Amino acid sequence: MIIEPRMRGFICLTSHPKGCEKNVLNQIEFVKSNGHIEGPKNVLVIGASTGFGLASRITSAFGSNAATIGVFFEKAPQEGKTASPGWYNSAAFQQEAKKAGLYAKSINGDAFSTEVKKKTIDLIKSDLGKVDLVIYSLASPVRTHPETGVTHRSVLKPIGDTFTSKTVDFHSGVVSNITIEPCTEDDINNTVAVMGGEDWEMWIDALIQADALSNHATTVAYSYIGPSLTEAVYRKGTIGKAKNDLEARAFKIADKLKDIDGEAYVSVNKALVTQASSAIPVIPLYISLLYKTMKEKGIHEGCIEQIQRLFEARLFSKEGIPTDEEGRIRIDDLEMREDVQNAVAELWLQATTETLPEIGDLKGYKQDFLNLFGFGFEGVDYLEDVNEVVAIEGLQ
Ligand code: NAI
Repeated sequence: MIIEPRMRGFICLTSHPKGCEKNVLNQIEFVKSNGHIEGPKNVLVIGASTGFGLASRITSAFGSNAATIGVFFEKAPQEGKTASPGWYNSAAFQQEAKKAGLYAKSINGDAFSTEVKKKTIDLIKSDLGKVDLVIYSLASPVRTHPETGVTHRSVLKPIGDTFTSKTVDFHSGVVSNITIEPCTEDDINNTVAVMGGEDWEMWIDALIQADALSNHATTVAYSYIGPSLTEAVYRKGTIGKAKNDLEARAFKIADKLKDIDGEAYVSVNKALVTQASSAIPVIPLYISLLYKTMKEKGIHEGCIEQIQRLFEARLFSKEGIPTDEEGRIRIDDLEMREDVQNAVAELWLQATTETLPEIGDLKGYKQDFLNLFGFGFEGVDYLEDVNEVVAIEGLQ
């Protein structure tokens, strides 16, 4: 079929297999061009099909020649109906790993469930024995708790006070004011249940119990802090409570890993256009101003640049792993630089529908958004009739 983007709000209903493949190939190329990283050997990536998780899988495999097992939750294609992009990304990743002679297998299912944990650990035990790196990169709006059966839904709301701010509809470019009512106590608890660290800890507990972690194994989950401009809806909002929980769990998990001399970290990453972040109010306006500023300063990075640097200059740096005073790895250092934040704050005051095309990088935002679904890549013929029914090699 000939596949075109069909946008609905902050999602796109279609995705392009060839474009997703191009996205993966570009990321592999970037990692390879940066040279070998003396890194992990056997890696489990939970949330491996898009965004930071996909970049982590690609960096492990093509930066360090690691065997990878990827867990994700993606929609398979049907005749006349495209898959979700993470499906096509994973198909392309598997294909390239095979060509390179790298072990790679994938599991498509609900990572929050006991069943998927068991299936993944059985696969580790039978094929790899143990893993030495576990990346936890899930972003989901919903989690059914494996013990209580309760389905929790996360919300993106401020705590305590109503929050009014500028925001942009990145499709139309219209800047307007948005008012978000404060959350309830239940909203906080539900968001922490979905995006906090309980499931990360459950994964590590299950891996320890199955003796599936190598000596000195490391686990890393991803967090975000961001500026005061977004803090009411992000770091001091419901999602911030979940990130506080995730960050606190790192210490708890590190304690549990002491017997194997293992380590647990949270890495604070940069704000980037992903399916998860485009759903958060206010963030797209911040990102478009941030992109403009960072591109002008020549310090812009996407997911793959972030994760390649995380591996090379943080996790597997010869000088040890640098952390901030709260024990977190910071790869958002360039985003949080004072000159960058001052420039963005200045632009924020000037941002209107009329000024944004000039002072912000709305074009870059839209491009990245299209790219998430495999559209807008150079070298892909979007008029070509392509087969939407693509299988993932190595899918268990
Ligand atoms: P994403 O939406 O691109 O990726 C989410 C991944 O989780 C996908 O592989 C998806 O298949 C998987 N997934 C979702 N629900 C699942 C389930 N029930 N079972 C199995 N897999 C499931 O998200 P992104 O942005 O890469 O986020 C990953 C982490 O990075 C999150 O913790 C997020 O908060 C964090 N982060 C994101 C930033 C951003 O600006 N995008 C900035 C800093 C941190």
